[in-house]
Amino acid sequence: MPVLETTRDLTSVADEVVGFVEAITREQGRRPVSDQLWLDLTRGGRPGSLAVVARDGDDRLIGVAQASRGNDTTVLQIVLATGQPLDTLGVELLRRATTESVRDGATHLTWWVPEPSAAHRAIAGALGWRAHRELLQMRRPLPTGAPIEIDTRPFRPGDDDETWIEVNNRAFASHGEQGGWDLATLHQRMAEPWFDPEGFLVHEIDGRMAGFCWTKLHHEVDPVEGEIYVIAVDPDFHGRGLGAQLTLAGLDSIARRGVRTGMLFVDAGNTAAVRLYEKLGFTVHRTDVAFVRG
Ligand SMILES: CC(C)(COP(=O)(O)OP(=O)(O)OC[C@H]1O[C@@H](n2cnc3c(N)ncnc32)[C@H](O)[C@@H]1OP(=O)(O)O)[C@@H](O)C(=O)NCCC(=O)NCCS
Repeated sequence: MPVLETTRDLTSVADEVVGFVEAITREQGRRPVSDQLWLDLTRGGRPGSLAVVARDGDDRLIGVAQASRGNDTTVLQIVLATGQPLDTLGVELLRRATTESVRDGATHLTWWVPEPSAAHRAIAGALGWRAHRELLQMRRPLPTGAPIEIDTRPFRPGDDDETWIEVNNRAFASHGEQGGWDLATLHQRMAEPWFDPEGFLVHEIDGRMAGFCWTKLHHEVDPVEGEIYVIAVDPDFHGRGLGAQLTLAGLDSIARRGVRTGMLFVDAGNTAAVRLYEKLGFTVHRTDVAFVRG
């Protein structure tokens, strides 16, 4: 019989859960939790964030539900050890994390599921969750061989921070969580071990930041993958081919670091971006789904 324990002090279980998630990442070839949940684990989440850990009779960790409090929603994710049943342990963890989050004042909950199976969808339906958003992971082999016709320079930490926030938030004004970043969010990402300003490319027009392509290498998977982490063009400069050029420049920077797979995540409803990536040879590798309650 698994024993479930809820904690609001994520740092108290961080070492154990990080080890658990890292082992699953090695097995599955991808990290099963989002960036934000991972940061919460390693740095402690905002008030309202919590973890429910499940242990077996030998006190071994066999599953975790994590809840991360964001601006508009509390994001839940469930990670099970290989072979642990979704329909019993997974459901128990989901129920417990939901109840505890609601008790802590969460009014809107989102359950993110990487590549949901029919069983995930059935459980979501039975527990009153409905599919709300689809996130595509798209990939293409590198190098692209395509010419790059624009100049870029590396991001300058300290000097570019505020301008970057402005351009990012203007470009993503209607895109939920990627809009509304503040300096604290940016600085949190810049403090991560993977952060490399050389792979964070900025394009200027007449001294103004017209767009950027921020890349991230995933050394936690083998072979290493290179992500177009955040890309945007200031709305004043849309439709001039900059998005395509910045994507190619980002992919080139990834390929120069010896990586052979370029990937990115994009909301399935972001038609402009999906078309742009398709045009550049990306194809859908997997689909993640956000379920919301009600
Ligand atoms: C996506 C984005 C970077 C595109 O930048 P852009 O400089 O306007 O795009 P480009 O001029 O290079 O267009 C390249 C191709 O993308 C597609 N595209 C771009 N905007 C489009 C739109 N509004 N509708 C449909 N397709 C579009 C087209 O296929 C276009 O090729 P075409 O002009 O030959 O038809 C820009 O819209 C943006 O910053 N959006 C907000 C941030 C964002 O969504 N980033 C991606 C997150 S994953």
